[in-house]
Amino acid sequence: MPAPEWGRSAELYRRALDLIPGGVNSPVRAMRSLGRDPIFIERGEGARIWDADGNVYVDWVSSWGPLICGHAHPAILAAIERAAAGGTSFGAPTEAEVELAAEVCDRFGSVEMVRMVSSGTEAAMSAIRLARAATERDAIVKFAGAYHGHVDGLLAEAGSGLATSGIPASPGVTAAQAADTIVVPWNDADAVAAAFAEREPAVVLCEPIPANMGIVPPAPGFLERLRELADRSGALLVCDEVISGFRVARGGAQELLGVDADLTMMGKVLGGGLPAAAYGGRRELMERVAPAGDVYQAGTLSGNPLAVAAGRATLAELDSAAYERLAATTERLAAGLREAAGGRPVSIASVPGLLTVFFAPEAPSDFAAASACDADAYGRFCRALLYRGIYPPASQFEAWFPSLAHDDEAIDETVAAATEAFEEALG
Ligand SMILES: Cc1ncc(COP(=O)(O)O)c(C=O)c1O
Repeated sequence: MPAPEWGRSAELYRRALDLIPGGVNSPVRAMRSLGRDPIFIERGEGARIWDADGNVYVDWVSSWGPLICGHAHPAILAAIERAAAGGTSFGAPTEAEVELAAEVCDRFGSVEMVRMVSSGTEAAMSAIRLARAATERDAIVKFAGAYHGHVDGLLAEAGSGLATSGIPASPGVTAAQAADTIVVPWNDADAVAAAFAEREPAVVLCEPIPANMGIVPPAPGFLERLRELADRSGALLVCDEVISGFRVARGGAQELLGVDADLTMMGKVLGGGLPAAAYGGRRELMERVAPAGDVYQAGTLSGNPLAVAAGRATLAELDSAAYERLAATTERLAAGLREAAGGRPVSIASVPGLLTVFFAPEAPSDFAAASACDADAYGRFCRALLYRGIYPPASQFEAWFPSLAHDDEAIDETVAAATEAFEEALG
């Protein structure tokens, strides 16, 4: 295969830099941590994407999670087309929203009512507001390395040792917002207990299977401990299943790991590639949301007919056979990459439907360990993969997203390319 040329991408990037901050509409797309310029994508089909120069790649990003059925899935496109032909938005309720809410509540044992929004960020912001209203408390306990969207108070991520007050991770976040966020290390139950002792929080907020420091599953018993601490203190356990929901199992990480949240945030797969997200939970909590209750939250495009159609068509594909296939695909990829690494200091962390290649001999158990990985080597590895027609997530701290469209051929191509890419990255 000839080495790809990226002339058209370079030209588009030059124009974009003049018009869009950093040339992209979300930072990781800039590929800065790979030490290269972004690749502009023209189209996708199944497990593959084509860039503006006509180069083709096996895509392991899957739009960062939504495309669990792959690109341009015929049934999902047809559902979107049908919905669009009937009008793109009404600002009034539709039958399809009720059906989608019923499907979500059926899948998540802990969710009795659900409110649709348009992004995971909005779901996080709204769930936190509701939790604060319900508990009449302000503080949030969150975990270092966890990402819950770009909500002001949730960007705090300092993560130094025991229950420290958050430091704003971005200019523009007020000291007051940061002061209500307590950041603790993932998988450290004593640190969570200490944070609870220091200040009665409204919420302990977690990704039950963290995917934003790479995949770092909970240690056995850790989620149960969070549940206990929350119950004892009168705080709410809020599970951010924006990535894990509808992916790691039919009922998300809560089903896979046997824990029930008070409130759950969902997104990504729920919108099937269109902008949809949601938060839901126990009836008495959700009935506090306006107009049933007094906690205000609204959205012009919430429950948008196109996004709801794409979400319903996506969930319709996700039966137990689909989850078995996705788990097998993930395992096959993980095993292939392990073999391709050939004894080099690389570890592969995986759960069904998610995987990370860590450039460290042992898979990390918290953000400090994830941060200690050799991110430069990951960058070299990814650059080498891109030259060989494989499109990996452009950061050591993101997950790979296998989809139902990734077949044996896509995995074999990836593993063959990875064998050479590990050699190039680590010698
Ligand atoms: C776990 C998690 N929560 C929330 C979000 C925010 O979602 P959105 O990008 O739709 O605002 C993300 C985004 O990647 C996420 O991974």
